[in-house]
Amino acid sequence: MRKFGFLVGLMILSLVAVPAMAAPVTIKFSHVVAVDTPKGQAAEYFKKLVEERSNGEIKVEVYPNASLYDDRAALEALSMNAVQMAAPSFSKFTTFVPQLELFDLPFLFNDIDHLHQVLNGEVGQKLLNMVEKKGMVGMAYWDNGFKQLSANKPLIKPEDASGLKFRIMSSKVLEAQFKALAANPQVLPFSEVYSALQQKVVDACENPLSNFYTQKFYEVQTDLTMSNHGYLGYMVVASKIFWKKLNDDQRALITQAMKESTEYANKLAVELDEKYLAEIKTAGTTKIHELTPEQRKAWKDKLLPIYSEFYDAVGKDLIEGALAAGK
Ligand code: LMR
Repeated sequence: MRKFGFLVGLMILSLVAVPAMAAPVTIKFSHVVAVDTPKGQAAEYFKKLVEERSNGEIKVEVYPNASLYDDRAALEALSMNAVQMAAPSFSKFTTFVPQLELFDLPFLFNDIDHLHQVLNGEVGQKLLNMVEKKGMVGMAYWDNGFKQLSANKPLIKPEDASGLKFRIMSSKVLEAQFKALAANPQVLPFSEVYSALQQKVVDACENPLSNFYTQKFYEVQTDLTMSNHGYLGYMVVASKIFWKKLNDDQRALITQAMKESTEYANKLAVELDEKYLAEIKTAGTTKIHELTPEQRKAWKDKLLPIYSEFYDAVGKDLIEGALAAGK
């Protein structure tokens, strides 16, 4: 009898208690780079902030190194809410939103301040809205850094790249960039680049220093040119299905945590760029080449003419808007 009373008590308690508790939320956050990169660290920081501030009500599971999906699959999974967040580089969005190829245009940004002017201004906002129309919520922009060219020979003049097979992300701009150098661009997922270089499936690539170092490309590339010719950054996106299911408090908490994680990511991007340059030098297996202003100009002269090929796909207004922000 006493046991029966206890059970009835438990049932009443569960009926009262369950509706009062918000359902736990899990965010699967998929990305393809190492944990020790600006994106890897910022994703961990975001997890920490969200879990602490929600008292564990919102859990964040971060999957680095393409351990869950590569970027293309992650964007598909996101549209079905099989993952809730991802932070692919701009090039990975370009089948959905070709305008994001803007960021792949070579020598578009004078420096990181110019880039931030564009991302935080009208152009950046327009692009977030475009992603929104494709069933995703554009949450933030995270920096990585400027890309550097690497190969197994010094790349000092544009002609040095001629005939080489360059691994590229899937992007029409990157394809045009290497074709303008009479090189041979090959699209490969990030997780396959090391073995492709090792097995000589490709000869060369372009990466920011944090990716070059953490993927150990210094073991399979003898020469690195500090070309700073293009930028690699990320748009952090959430699944729209997931976002709509959250309540206002949860959305506000995530938005604030994302804002702080973005500041963290962008500060770290600068620090890690310097740190990994020093580490590559210490590894001693890759020669680093600086370009003189004249040498840099020769690369620019070869590559700037490709802009006009993208006036339709990217938009002349976006390209001119981005250039004007640097003046
Ligand atoms: C790449 O594929 O090279 C990059 O998108 C990897 C990354 O996320 O930084």
